[in-house]
Amino acid sequence: MAVMGRNLARNLARNGHAVAIYNRTQSRAQEVIDLHGTEGTFVLTGDLEAFVDSLARPRQIIIMVQAGAGTDAVIDSLVPLLQEGDIVVDGGNARYQDTRRREEALRAHGLHFVGVGISGGEVGALEGPSIMPGGSVESYAALGPILESISAKVDGEPCCTHIGPDGAGHFVKMVHNGIEYADMQFISEAYDLLRAAGMEPAAMSQVFRSWNEGDLDSYLIEVTAEVLAQDDARTGGPLVDSIVDAAGQKGTGSWTVQAALELGVPVNAIAESVFARSASSHPELRAAAQPALAGPDRDLTAYLQTPQGGEGQGLDAFVEQVRQSLWAAKVVAYAQGLHLIRVASDSYGWDVDIAEVARIWRAGCIIRARLLERIRGEYAAQQLTTLLEAPSIRDGLEQAQDGWRRVVGVGAAAGVPLPGFGAALAYYDTLRAPRLPAALVQGQRDYFGAHTYGRVDDEGSFHTDWSGDRSELKIGS
Ligand code: 6PG
Repeated sequence: MAVMGRNLARNLARNGHAVAIYNRTQSRAQEVIDLHGTEGTFVLTGDLEAFVDSLARPRQIIIMVQAGAGTDAVIDSLVPLLQEGDIVVDGGNARYQDTRRREEALRAHGLHFVGVGISGGEVGALEGPSIMPGGSVESYAALGPILESISAKVDGEPCCTHIGPDGAGHFVKMVHNGIEYADMQFISEAYDLLRAAGMEPAAMSQVFRSWNEGDLDSYLIEVTAEVLAQDDARTGGPLVDSIVDAAGQKGTGSWTVQAALELGVPVNAIAESVFARSASSHPELRAAAQPALAGPDRDLTAYLQTPQGGEGQGLDAFVEQVRQSLWAAKVVAYAQGLHLIRVASDSYGWDVDIAEVARIWRAGCIIRARLLERIRGEYAAQQLTTLLEAPSIRDGLEQAQDGWRRVVGVGAAAGVPLPGFGAALAYYDTLRAPRLPAALVQGQRDYFGAHTYGRVDDEGSFHTDWSGDRSELKIGS
């Protein structure tokens, strides 16, 4: 009955479901009834056994505890009390491998274990989150209508769908968070650039507000405008200037990158976003480097005044280029995250429908954005290997790329770090390149390790006798 569990229970009760609640410290469950008992039907039971006995069969139990060992402990205490066909739901941000393991273990007991990704923070849990359930089709038949009833809605459509078996729901939620990290990093790079161009947070807040009227319309842009508009009661200056510049992380971003590394999927923009948080949180590293490392002074005002390549530009033009960079990088982060989901789905046999994932991210969750409707439409209309090839996305990138390239170049020239924008652009150009320097890497690998290479004009593997007469050997067919 911490805030997420409490709000989810209230959301269920408000939607007409009778909710039995249990908390190890019973007073916390009692508090929910004292404060919110009038919102619906809550049932308070004494101990875990009584809680389980109070539920209609097949039982549907949602565990909301801190992910990790706590979840296993609750499952272990519940399993002996349950009967075949009962459903145990984990609504936390669990690792998908843990969910796969737990699902298999409970299946052996004839129980359904359902890992459910829930996004939207505290308010979303209460008012309608985006819900990403994994687990069996059978469990969704029972659970689906309940979860759909409490989820966010877009034109009456619930932001909840059966993602796929076992850990699919938690995997998709994890990738949602990876994209969330990237989105936040890109926005913070846009902020950094506008600051270096001489804008103050209050003025920037107006810029973000205006971006929120267009194609960048999203919850995180809205949040950004709010944070930048906030003054600090203590100093009277912008609150953002009083906040320590070390970003925290609870792990889901790095899990996304770990999964991508294991599955061999390039998610460099998401990875840079995770590393940017790590870099910000090493004060000793930054303190050692600051006096030691020379470079430009991060002042973009000079760039805005002097002609570059024969063409000068004002602040308005630069703001527009930053907007284009933000849009393009955001699209790349979605492309990387959705590619990761596709590869995981193929490798675990989940059969995830990407259009459906985009559909249920349109409202309720932290990365909700206008763009997701377009992404849903593109995946629904055709088979896509990458989001970047979708007609409307491709056209948008074509329009955005001049500004995007300029911004990345200008950031590098002025000493404004742009790991997210830069990584996203490198990914874009990597995918476009007709030939990659990977050919040289293969030659190097063959030189020092006889790792062999493929030829563009023949099948099979080849090795050059580098230390001998440099003749080429065909190895295998
Ligand atoms: C959500 C959020 C939520 C939370 C994450 C990220 O979808 O509601 O993603 O899960 O914000 O835990 O938190 P960190 O930034 O601390 O990793």
